[in-house]
Amino acid sequence: MTFEEYKRRIKRVVITEDEIKQAIKEAGKKISDSYDGRPILLVSILNGAFVFMADLCREITVPCELAFMCAKSYFAGTESSGKVTVTMDVSQDLSKYHVIIVEDIIDTGRTLKVICDMLKERNPLSLKVITLLDKPERRLVDFKADMSLFTIPDYFVIGYGLDCAEYFRNLPYIAEYEPNL
Ligand code: IMP
Ligand code: MG
Repeated sequence: MTFEEYKRRIKRVVITEDEIKQAIKEAGKKISDSYDGRPILLVSILNGAFVFMADLCREITVPCELAFMCAKSYFAGTESSGKVTVTMDVSQDLSKYHVIIVEDIIDTGRTLKVICDMLKERNPLSLKVITLLDKPERRLVDFKADMSLFTIPDYFVIGYGLDCAEYFRNLPYIAEYEPNL
Protein backbone atom coordinates (compact mmCIF):
# COMPACT_ATOMS: atom_id res chain seq x y z
CA MET A 1 0.00 0.00 0.00
CA THR A 2 1.41 3.40 -0.94
CA PHE A 3 1.35 6.23 1.62
CA GLU A 4 -1.14 8.11 -0.60
CA GLU A 5 -3.56 5.18 -0.61
CA TYR A 6 -3.00 4.64 3.13
CA LYS A 7 -4.09 8.19 3.90
CA ARG A 8 -7.13 8.04 1.61
CA ARG A 9 -8.32 4.82 3.28
CA ILE A 10 -8.74 6.76 6.55
CA LYS A 11 -12.14 8.28 5.74
CA ARG A 12 -12.83 10.21 8.96
CA VAL A 13 -12.17 10.04 12.67
CA VAL A 14 -15.13 8.47 14.47
CA ILE A 15 -13.83 8.41 18.06
CA THR A 16 -10.97 10.66 19.12
CA GLU A 17 -8.01 9.78 21.33
CA ASP A 18 -9.43 11.93 24.13
CA GLU A 19 -12.85 10.29 23.98
CA ILE A 20 -11.26 6.84 24.15
CA LYS A 21 -9.03 7.89 27.05
CA GLN A 22 -11.97 9.28 29.04
CA ALA A 23 -14.15 6.19 28.50
CA ILE A 24 -11.32 3.85 29.52
CA LYS A 25 -10.62 5.89 32.65
CA GLU A 26 -14.25 5.44 33.74
CA ALA A 27 -14.25 1.73 32.87
CA GLY A 28 -11.03 1.19 34.84
CA LYS A 29 -12.54 2.90 37.85
CA LYS A 30 -15.72 0.80 37.64
CA ILE A 31 -13.70 -2.42 37.48
CA SER A 32 -11.42 -1.32 40.34
CA ASP A 33 -14.43 -0.45 42.52
CA SER A 34 -16.46 -3.59 41.85
CA TYR A 35 -13.65 -6.18 41.87
CA ASP A 36 -11.59 -4.85 44.75
CA GLY A 37 -10.26 -7.69 46.91
CA ARG A 38 -10.98 -10.40 44.35
CA PRO A 39 -8.46 -12.24 42.12
CA ILE A 40 -8.88 -10.69 38.66
CA LEU A 41 -7.60 -12.13 35.39
CA LEU A 42 -7.91 -9.82 32.38
CA VAL A 43 -7.93 -11.89 29.19
CA SER A 44 -7.25 -9.87 26.06
CA ILE A 45 -8.21 -11.25 22.68
CA LEU A 46 -5.35 -10.73 20.25
CA ASN A 47 -4.54 -9.18 17.98
CA GLY A 48 -7.18 -6.46 17.94
CA ALA A 49 -7.53 -5.84 21.69
CA PHE A 50 -3.85 -5.32 22.52
CA VAL A 51 -4.03 -1.51 22.57
CA PHE A 52 -7.27 -1.46 24.59
CA MET A 53 -5.80 -3.96 27.06
CA ALA A 54 -2.64 -1.88 27.49
CA ASP A 55 -4.62 1.28 28.28
CA LEU A 56 -7.39 -0.37 30.33
CA CYS A 57 -5.03 -2.30 32.63
CA ARG A 58 -3.24 0.95 33.49
CA GLU A 59 -6.54 2.49 34.65
CA ILE A 60 -7.18 -0.44 37.01
CA THR A 61 -5.85 0.45 40.44
CA VAL A 62 -6.37 -2.89 42.24
CA PRO A 63 -4.18 -6.02 41.85
CA CYS A 64 -4.88 -7.94 38.64
CA GLU A 65 -3.18 -10.46 36.38
CA LEU A 66 -3.06 -10.32 32.58
CA ALA A 67 -3.37 -13.07 29.99
CA PHE A 68 -3.67 -13.25 26.23
CA MET A 69 -5.62 -15.41 23.82
CA CYS A 70 -5.42 -15.33 20.07
CA ALA A 71 -8.56 -15.86 17.99
CA LYS A 72 -8.85 -15.59 14.24
CA SER A 73 -12.16 -14.86 12.59
CA TYR A 74 -11.11 -12.67 9.66
CA PHE A 75 -8.97 -13.84 6.78
CA ALA A 76 -8.27 -10.46 5.20
CA GLY A 77 -10.23 -7.39 4.19
CA THR A 78 -13.52 -6.49 5.79
CA GLU A 79 -15.58 -9.70 5.54
CA SER A 80 -15.82 -12.31 8.28
CA SER A 81 -15.04 -15.91 7.43
CA GLY A 82 -17.68 -17.11 9.90
CA LYS A 83 -15.28 -19.64 11.36
CA VAL A 84 -13.48 -18.91 14.63
CA THR A 85 -10.20 -20.59 15.55
CA VAL A 86 -8.26 -20.15 18.79
CA THR A 87 -4.57 -20.19 17.89
CA MET A 88 -3.19 -19.31 21.34
CA ASP A 89 -4.80 -20.15 24.66
CA VAL A 90 -4.40 -18.95 28.27
CA SER A 91 -2.52 -21.26 30.63
CA GLN A 92 -3.93 -20.12 33.99
CA ASP A 93 -6.25 -22.26 36.11
CA LEU A 94 -9.43 -20.19 35.61
CA SER A 95 -11.19 -21.69 38.64
CA LYS A 96 -9.03 -19.36 40.75
CA TYR A 97 -10.07 -16.15 39.00
CA HIS A 98 -12.79 -13.66 38.25
CA VAL A 99 -12.18 -13.48 34.51
CA ILE A 100 -12.78 -10.35 32.45
CA ILE A 101 -12.47 -10.79 28.69
CA VAL A 102 -11.11 -7.65 27.04
CA GLU A 103 -12.21 -7.35 23.39
CA ASP A 104 -11.82 -4.65 20.76
CA ILE A 105 -15.15 -4.99 18.95
CA ILE A 106 -18.23 -7.21 18.88
CA ASP A 107 -19.54 -7.59 15.35
CA THR A 108 -21.42 -10.79 14.49
CA GLY A 109 -20.79 -11.99 18.05
CA ARG A 110 -19.35 -15.30 16.87
CA THR A 111 -15.83 -14.87 18.27
CA LEU A 112 -16.93 -14.06 21.80
CA LYS A 113 -19.65 -16.69 21.80
CA VAL A 114 -17.04 -19.35 21.03
CA ILE A 115 -14.51 -17.97 23.52
CA CYS A 116 -17.02 -17.50 26.36
CA ASP A 117 -18.43 -21.02 25.94
CA MET A 118 -14.88 -22.37 25.97
CA LEU A 119 -13.80 -20.44 29.09
CA LYS A 120 -17.03 -21.16 31.02
CA GLU A 121 -16.24 -24.87 30.86
CA ARG A 122 -13.13 -24.17 32.95
CA ASN A 123 -15.30 -22.90 35.83
CA PRO A 124 -14.01 -19.37 36.44
CA LEU A 125 -15.27 -17.73 39.68
CA SER A 126 -17.11 -15.35 37.31
CA LEU A 127 -16.86 -14.39 33.66
CA LYS A 128 -17.58 -10.95 32.22
CA VAL A 129 -16.87 -9.23 28.92
CA ILE A 130 -15.74 -5.67 28.33
CA THR A 131 -15.58 -4.40 24.77
CA LEU A 132 -14.34 -1.09 23.43
CA LEU A 133 -16.78 -1.08 20.51
CA ASP A 134 -20.09 -2.73 19.77
CA LYS A 135 -21.89 -3.02 16.42
CA PRO A 136 -25.26 -4.47 17.55
CA GLU A 137 -26.82 -4.14 14.06
CA ARG A 138 -24.43 -6.76 12.74
CA ARG A 139 -25.15 -9.46 15.31
CA LEU A 140 -25.69 -12.98 13.91
CA VAL A 141 -25.60 -14.84 17.22
CA ASP A 142 -27.19 -13.74 20.48
CA PHE A 143 -24.43 -12.07 22.49
CA LYS A 144 -24.22 -9.10 24.87
CA ALA A 145 -21.17 -7.60 26.53
CA ASP A 146 -21.33 -6.74 30.23
CA MET A 147 -19.62 -3.42 29.54
CA SER A 148 -19.43 -1.68 26.18
CA LEU A 149 -17.64 1.66 25.82
CA PHE A 150 -18.95 2.82 22.42
CA THR A 151 -21.82 1.65 20.21
CA ILE A 152 -21.31 2.30 16.48
CA PRO A 153 -23.41 1.74 13.35
CA ASP A 154 -22.62 -0.79 10.66
CA TYR A 155 -19.46 0.45 9.02
CA PHE A 156 -15.93 -0.92 9.08
CA VAL A 157 -13.59 0.82 11.52
CA ILE A 158 -9.82 0.87 11.85
CA GLY A 159 -7.29 2.12 14.38
CA TYR A 160 -6.60 1.72 18.09
CA GLY A 161 -5.74 -1.97 17.56
CA LEU A 162 -8.30 -2.63 14.81
CA ASP A 163 -6.96 -3.47 11.38
CA CYS A 164 -7.81 -3.91 7.77
CA ALA A 165 -5.48 -6.58 6.34
CA GLU A 166 -3.13 -5.89 9.31
CA TYR A 167 -2.70 -2.18 8.55
CA PHE A 168 -3.91 0.76 10.68
CA ARG A 169 -3.67 -0.95 14.11
CA ASN A 170 -1.27 1.79 15.20
CA LEU A 171 -3.62 4.74 14.59
CA PRO A 172 -4.25 6.35 18.00
CA TYR A 173 -7.97 6.97 17.23
CA ILE A 174 -10.88 5.02 15.72
CA ALA A 175 -11.59 5.91 12.09
CA GLU A 176 -14.04 4.81 9.43
CA TYR A 177 -12.38 2.82 6.65
CA GLU A 178 -12.83 4.01 3.07
CA PRO A 179 -13.55 0.87 0.99
CA ASN A 180 -13.88 2.69 -2.37
CA LEU A 181 -10.93 4.64 -3.70
P1 IMP B 1 -17.23 -11.17 15.38
O1 IMP B 1 -16.84 -12.59 15.67
O2 IMP B 1 -17.96 -11.05 14.07
O3 IMP B 1 -17.99 -10.51 16.51
O4 IMP B 1 -15.94 -10.36 15.06
C1 IMP B 1 -15.03 -10.13 15.96
C2 IMP B 1 -13.71 -9.74 15.35
O5 IMP B 1 -13.79 -9.27 14.00
C3 IMP B 1 -13.20 -8.58 16.15
O6 IMP B 1 -12.51 -9.03 17.28
C4 IMP B 1 -12.33 -7.86 15.14
O7 IMP B 1 -11.03 -8.41 15.18
C5 IMP B 1 -12.98 -8.13 13.81
N1 IMP B 1 -13.83 -6.99 13.37
C6 IMP B 1 -15.17 -6.90 13.39
N2 IMP B 1 -15.60 -5.70 12.94
C7 IMP B 1 -14.49 -4.99 12.64
C8 IMP B 1 -14.26 -3.65 12.15
O8 IMP B 1 -15.17 -2.84 11.89
N3 IMP B 1 -12.96 -3.31 11.98
C9 IMP B 1 -11.91 -4.15 12.23
N4 IMP B 1 -12.09 -5.40 12.72
C10 IMP B 1 -13.36 -5.82 12.91
MG1 MG C 1 -10.56 -8.97 17.87
